[in-house]
Amino acid sequence: MSRIALVTGGSRGIGAAISVALKGAGYKVAANYAGNDEKAQAFTAETGIPTYKWDVSDYAACAAGIAKVEADLGPIEILVNNAGITRDAMFHKMTPENWKDVIDTNLSGLFNMTHPVWTGMRDRNFGRVINISSINGQKGQMGQANYSAAKAGDLGFTKALAQEGAAKGITVNAICPGYIGTEMVRAIPEKVLAERIIPQIPVGRLGEPEEIARIAVFLASDDAGFITGSTISANGGQFFV
Ligand code: CAA
Repeated sequence: MSRIALVTGGSRGIGAAISVALKGAGYKVAANYAGNDEKAQAFTAETGIPTYKWDVSDYAACAAGIAKVEADLGPIEILVNNAGITRDAMFHKMTPENWKDVIDTNLSGLFNMTHPVWTGMRDRNFGRVINISSINGQKGQMGQANYSAAKAGDLGFTKALAQEGAAKGITVNAICPGYIGTEMVRAIPEKVLAERIIPQIPVGRLGEPEEIARIAVFLASDDAGFITGSTISANGGQFFV
């Protein structure tokens, strides 16, 4: 019987690559998305992976969405908390909405998604929670006080929950991607990307979403049962912890 995986923000960018890689590794995969119906439908048509729409910043919507996925596919054994947004601005220009939107999605989204699946994972004595944090949660990034705070929070969440899950066969790990060639990174002003960011990456290029997806597939596997509370960085040498 193949295990069931749910990937948030799973129809675009890094999340889409993770959904596809997990399916390729034999998992039954569901992809959550929040906004772009057209992209989600195209993703399902192309990959055969079903998509489910809800907003991870809304606890009740997460509980209802998870119940629907579980009714369709079965109990969620692997949860990939990938959904994330940016609202970049220098701090003196950052609005309270910029702050709240990013914290609600990128940090509280992890609580909202993990809490409804946690009891089931405990009861079944198996679970994999994989949180997509960021290099910018590790090192901080100008223009991202909100995003860096949320992504650093994701690492604390990972380490605390790993301790709670360990005796119940649940591993909780984080991946910290560096700058990956997705729409989110390509939205950075061209001049900033070319002159300020790429020169800071020793391998001299952006990462590929599939380079992150392969880490997620490994963390989801039975082979990774002794790895919990860890942070795996994949950033082309841009930052060492
Ligand atoms: N690294 C180094 N310098 C940076 C920088 C960066 N990432 N971002 C901005 N700067 C510099 C600019 O080059 C500029 O310097 P000069 O005045 O010497 O030219 C200065 O900071 C001010 O920047 P702007 O003129 O662009 O100021 P702005 O107010 O118009 O815009 C900003 C500010 C919205 C933060 C914009 O610069 C920006 O989007 N920067 C990119 C921030 C960033 O790295 N975001 C990561 C997004 S990808 C992601 O989040 C995924 C992930 O997990 C890695």
